Amino acid sequence: MRCRVAIVGAGPAGLLLAHLLDAAGIESVLIERQSAEHVASRIRAGILESGTVDLLRRAGLGDRLDEEGMEHRGIYLQWPGERHHLDFVNLAGRSVWVYGQTEVTKDLMAARRRAEQAAYYNASDVEVHDADTERPSVTFIDEAGDAQRIKAEIVAGCDGYHGPSKQAVPQAVRHTWERNYPFAWLGILADVAPSSNELIYAWHPDGFALHSMRSHSVGRFYLQVAPDEDIAEWSDDRIWHNLATRFALDGWKLDTGTITEKSVLPMRSFVTTPMRRGRLFLAGDAAHIVPPTGAKGLNLAVADVALLSRAIADLLLRKDSRAADAYCETALNRVWRCTHFSWWMTTMLHRHGDDFDAELQLSQLRRIVDSPSAATELAQNYAGLPIPLSTLD
Ligand code: APR
Ligand code: PHB
Repeated sequence: MRCRVAIVGAGPAGLLLAHLLDAAGIESVLIERQSAEHVASRIRAGILESGTVDLLRRAGLGDRLDEEGMEHRGIYLQWPGERHHLDFVNLAGRSVWVYGQTEVTKDLMAARRRAEQAAYYNASDVEVHDADTERPSVTFIDEAGDAQRIKAEIVAGCDGYHGPSKQAVPQAVRHTWERNYPFAWLGILADVAPSSNELIYAWHPDGFALHSMRSHSVGRFYLQVAPDEDIAEWSDDRIWHNLATRFALDGWKLDTGTITEKSVLPMRSFVTTPMRRGRLFLAGDAAHIVPPTGAKGLNLAVADVALLSRAIADLLLRKDSRAADAYCETALNRVWRCTHFSWWMTTMLHRHGDDFDAELQLSQLRRIVDSPSAATELAQNYAGLPIPLSTLD
């Protein structure tokens, strides 16, 4: 089988790339290891930068987001006895939106079905070949057990941290940075109206806690735990007790409800370069992972794909390789900015080290609340760098 673009991975990056290429009149084939149901059921982060929202709307994917998403002016930073609001609209001129990645993925999958373009779910033994040539290909076993080879002009590796695409970049030219943090997040979904109008990031001697949400009736909460935490040791009561302790504030109460999902999420930073080798381009988690404290993972994947869709369109439709040649450098500028910000938010808010470290963290938090320039720096990074929509022209 031949196609113009073979996309390995049908998570947000692969699905959005397929959608943007389709809008440019470029046909693609998605090759995904899991079932469509599994992909659609993943529970991931929930914050969209306004740049991401603008791009989704421009790409015709904003209807449900506009109906069900919640626009937030900012976040709260908390430490024992104090909670302070950071207003991103006043500080950085941009808001953020609460709309679960699960919902973004469902909207993208619906768009893919409407486009009636090929997608192979439940694919196994997926391999990228000849990335360095003008005739790269992807081989795999399809869900019927038949061996398939897709010959393409471009291969997009959108297969996440564990995917095979990055292995198609020769080890000799690959450079990888990785930082594993000495803690993890225990995340829950609960049927309870949020106890706060916007997200609360709380530093506490017992560990970090985050109050997020998915809707006006579903709360999303996270607790810092050990990296090897056994979730079986966390009863619902123990989770709610720890959340109430870490968010405690005079005159404020944490409402509780039925917990419908529990999971422990590892915390790591990871970057691999180059993000391009010949006709292979990496985008999203295939090239980088950020700890979720900065709410950057999905937004960074969207920014990669906005760049990559334009680079591929210029290359295939206009024989103009400038954007493709600049893809790696341009993408990495944002990748390292988001990697730094996510590391900074993570190391500032999570308990690790000794009492000296704790005093440094508290001093940093007070500085942000007391200094408009420090608050603006956080706001500009959290609300995100604008995504040039010219990539969609
Ligand atoms: N063959 C085919 N598909 C694969 C393979 C493989 N060998 N390995 C992984 N995949 C698929 C996964 O099943 C997944 O559906 O690639 C997809 C990668 O999707 P994500 O991991 O969601 O990464 P990405 O699309 O870049 O989106 C980044 O997702 O995980 C979150 O925090 C992350 O918010 C960020 C966003
Ligand atoms: C979420 O709602 O899942 C969420 C929000 C903000 C973060 C991380 C996760 O920083």
